[in-house]
Amino acid sequence: MSTRERVRVVEVGPRDGLQNEAEPIPTATKVALIDRLAGCGFKTIEATSFVAPQWVPQLADAAEVYAAIAKPPGLHLPVLVPNLKGYERARAAGVREIAVFSAASEAFNQRNINASIDQSLARIAEVMERADADQVPVRGYVSTVLGCPYQGAVPLAEVVRVARALHDLGCAQISLGDTIGVGTPAGARAMLRAVADALPMTALAVHFHDTRGQALANVLACLDEGVRVIDASVAGLGGCPYAEGASGNLASEDLVYLLDGIGLDCGVDLDALIEVGRWISAELGRDNASKVGRAGNWPRRVAA
Ligand code: HMG
Ligand code: MG
Repeated sequence: MSTRERVRVVEVGPRDGLQNEAEPIPTATKVALIDRLAGCGFKTIEATSFVAPQWVPQLADAAEVYAAIAKPPGLHLPVLVPNLKGYERARAAGVREIAVFSAASEAFNQRNINASIDQSLARIAEVMERADADQVPVRGYVSTVLGCPYQGAVPLAEVVRVARALHDLGCAQISLGDTIGVGTPAGARAMLRAVADALPMTALAVHFHDTRGQALANVLACLDEGVRVIDASVAGLGGCPYAEGASGNLASEDLVYLLDGIGLDCGVDLDALIEVGRWISAELGRDNASKVGRAGNWPRRVAA
């Protein structure tokens, strides 16, 4: 058992990564991806989302995916839910943990979920009531925390307001999302500090898209502030179809390499993860967006 300080990496590739893929992906590939990621040692994998299939056709097979994946004890498999209908579909499929989401920018919320911030919080409140009664743990996302593709700057006060609202509604963890990857370390640090002034740091996570190559630098600044839960996506897959210019998430391989290098334990086997990243990139016919995935681990392990 490692005595190093622990960080939880939340693997969001099967949801945030795949939702933006234009070509249909076979359900069996999605299932294999989640099972293989679990084999790498992740303890939380966001499996899919129960949003409206007219909005995100790629994840229309959410119930089939969830039914087919292995559910070993100790593995958390939350799914994204936008409203009560999504919650009911998810529960009918046997889901035991969910994530809800709202942006801190009005303009993005309208494009992404056809609702104002306050309307989306009201929808979330309905979901939370049911989740509370069913003892379903809920994670909350705040999107566009460092900038919005439609309105530009997002006031920090709005980020704090939405994060606090989600927390007050009962979300056990709040993930702060730089949806379009515009932030840099000073801004990321200031944003996290502002939210951590209102909520306990232990209830916070960070979620950086790597659109402009800043994600790892932002993570380092936020680790320095004390955050210990970080979202990432295998092979850097990802992006939101309703966020113009959004590209992939921080690659899990690059994050795990960094954590290993600075002595933080996340319990993920990097060599196994690199294999999964190469495999899914080939399956999707994409270049691997993880630098570590492309270059390989170091020092190389010599096969016996
Ligand atoms: P709407 O069109 O306003 O919804 O969409 P509606 O209530 O008027 O319903 C329209 C139709 O959708 C109806 O069907 C509903 O039954 C159906 P019809 O009567 O026309 O046949 N419907 C559903 N069907 C299945 N499951 C549901 C569901 N809800 C309604 N859950 C809605 C509103 C919220 C549903 C829609 O806008 C939506 O699903 N948006 C999701 C968009 C999305 O998934 N974006 C990406 C995820 S967020 C993200 O990536 C950011 C994050 O990673 C953090 C970060 O990076 O910052 C989390
Ligand atoms: Mg995201």
